[in-house]
Amino acid sequence: MGFKEIFGTLPEASAQAPGRVNLLGEHTDYQEGYVLPAPLPYFTQVEAAKAEGRVEAYSETLKELRARPLGSPAQGDFLDYLLGVVWALREAGHKVPGARFYIRSQVPIGAGLSSSAALEVAALRALRTLYRLPLSDRDLALLGQKAEAAYVGVRSGIMDQMAASLGEPGKALFLDTRTLAYENLPLPAGVRVAVLDLGLGRHLREAGYNQRREEAEEAARRLGVRSLRDVGDLCLVESLPPPLDKRARHIVGENLRVLKGVEALRKGDARAFGELMVQSHRSLAENYQVSLPELDALVEAALEAGAHGAKLTGAGFGGAVVALVPEARFAPFQEALTARFPGLRIL
Ligand code: GLA
Repeated sequence: MGFKEIFGTLPEASAQAPGRVNLLGEHTDYQEGYVLPAPLPYFTQVEAAKAEGRVEAYSETLKELRARPLGSPAQGDFLDYLLGVVWALREAGHKVPGARFYIRSQVPIGAGLSSSAALEVAALRALRTLYRLPLSDRDLALLGQKAEAAYVGVRSGIMDQMAASLGEPGKALFLDTRTLAYENLPLPAGVRVAVLDLGLGRHLREAGYNQRREEAEEAARRLGVRSLRDVGDLCLVESLPPPLDKRARHIVGENLRVLKGVEALRKGDARAFGELMVQSHRSLAENYQVSLPELDALVEAALEAGAHGAKLTGAGFGGAVVALVPEARFAPFQEALTARFPGLRIL
């Protein structure tokens, strides 16, 4: 199957965007904090052509063709993301009368690897070419986030779309989510970023995510700051009632860990970076309470099997673990983990 078989015409543009893992800086991006994601070598590719008054899309993964007129409400399927980006472009004043998409994706869905941001950014890149839109890569990330928040109805931060739009292979994207200033930093030589996916799905992720966001907002309000990014001193959070103290402790500590992680990357110090990942995971488990016993066990097993560091990646409540593994020890690492967790996928 291809674009021509589905739509009867040839595509006029094509584009792709990668999934991502987050190495450090978890649950900081909706409090104007720092993040450090890295793009994965797995992509969502779209081919696209112009259309009038409607958006149509075929997903090769789902083997489904969906079509709806512009202005239709979101329905909870993959077409929402495409209608969403077209809606966001039109809202911003761009002339985009519709489009057809053929989607192929290598990014696993539901593993916390941002398959939705990859789809949004790939579609936006194709639309930029198709309709010759004067948009920067940063603009595309913001439009993707707007589509997801206001059209699809998922209130995420800006990390995922920025990683999909601005990340570079083999590098981590150090992003300040307040100013959107960023820098792509090379990962240390001789290490491999491994994604460990037990296929846990996303149990209660959305409800849990929104609750954490509200708790973080409440903590910032009580501390009298615009966002927890402005709290530089961990002692300040001790005045908060539980669980807000724990939530704020995570976010304040996590921002510091990203800054330390950036220093470690600049020195090429994989061990120091790995140690920060472990601290991040423990804080996500104990303070932010978004881990699961399966993820904790996987992190411990990854460390025992020789990883420099490991942590859950993304929102938590399921999803995958990311590990930083010395290249030279990768084969025994893989063997030890697959022996211990049948059904584990290592990407
Ligand atoms: C999800 C969101 C991101 C970010 C992470 C947690 O992936 O989409 O914006 O908040 O959770 O770090």
